Amino acid sequence: MATRKLLLLPGDGIGPEVMAEVSRLLGFLAKSGIASFEIEEGLVGGGCYDAHKVSITEETMAKAHAADAVIFGAVGGPKWDDVPYDVRPEAGLLRLRKDLGLFANIRPAICYPALAESSSLKREVVEGLDIIILRELTGGVYFGEPKTITDLGNGQKRAVDTQVYDTYEIERIARVGFELARRRRNKVTSMEKRNVMKTGVLWREVVTDVHAREYKDVELEHMLADAGGMQIVRWPKQFDVIVTDNLFGDMLSDIAAMLTGSLGMLPSASLGEVDAKTKRRKALYEPVHGSAPDIAGKGIANPIAMLASFGMALRYSFNMGKEADLLDAAIAAVLAKGLRTADIKSDGAKIVSTSEMGEAVVGELERLSV
Ligand code: IPM
Ligand code: MG
Repeated sequence: MATRKLLLLPGDGIGPEVMAEVSRLLGFLAKSGIASFEIEEGLVGGGCYDAHKVSITEETMAKAHAADAVIFGAVGGPKWDDVPYDVRPEAGLLRLRKDLGLFANIRPAICYPALAESSSLKREVVEGLDIIILRELTGGVYFGEPKTITDLGNGQKRAVDTQVYDTYEIERIARVGFELARRRRNKVTSMEKRNVMKTGVLWREVVTDVHAREYKDVELEHMLADAGGMQIVRWPKQFDVIVTDNLFGDMLSDIAAMLTGSLGMLPSASLGEVDAKTKRRKALYEPVHGSAPDIAGKGIANPIAMLASFGMALRYSFNMGKEADLLDAAIAAVLAKGLRTADIKSDGAKIVSTSEMGEAVVGELERLSV
């Protein structure tokens, strides 16, 4: 295989701590001859603002375009609350998503058997859960124009965000959803708010058309996004793949994260269109959790979401499904042995640090790989 190019962007808060465990994993993969990668690193978010007064530099953007996969930690923190809006830490992440065309955000919510007790929901509701929230990532109200705050001059201001979707944007995310479902339990639930939003009306219409034209073999159901949120906490196992827009997907994926025990468990993949010539697609992998400034620097963050995000890179960018399966098995085995970071602690479990957890997962992977 041609060289595999990675760009590591650890970012802020706990980002660098959890990324260090990816580096440990990369070290093992290289040393054991399983896979070697060409690795670049860069600044993003608040750390980049401090150094360059922007949340990502043009040089780093160029490296991101050249990489097969960007591995992203987390950005933001109270330190940058007052920086100008355009260069706030989150802007760097949004630019990466937009400029790389990463419209499909796959957020699996998997409840490892060993963690069923860590969820705030009852064991029978979450045990064995394996669903995907597929979030549209480059359109909708996060990017729509106009996006303004206007002074009305009478002591009032008016803020406007614009929710906008074109047919092609809904079609391509729907296709990703149906393709994912075909390799799983063959069911797609589309969520929108057609009862109050025009974008919801179009969303439902386009998803229905794509289904009728290309994916009749897949079961399709529609749900209003608010009712969908309720159903996700009531009985999440009714779902397989949930496809929804940028805003609803942001919220519903955080809700789904809690089903799994901790936000520290959830990986994600953000994928672009497959290039017709090269057959490759741009991709960025990041944990769903944020920079967690409250626990940053203490060495207690859970690295599992970050490691599992790298696992998704193996699966989706490097065609290494076998290795990705082994990594998932290593994570499950470490949890089954009773090792826990603080966020997922339970009675009788051994509390470990970020690096101890990373070491245990890599150690288990080594045992499984021989
Ligand atoms: C996420 C985050 C981001 C988002 C922020 C950090 C911009 O909440 O990835 O879910 O809103 O998309
Ligand atoms: Mg979010």
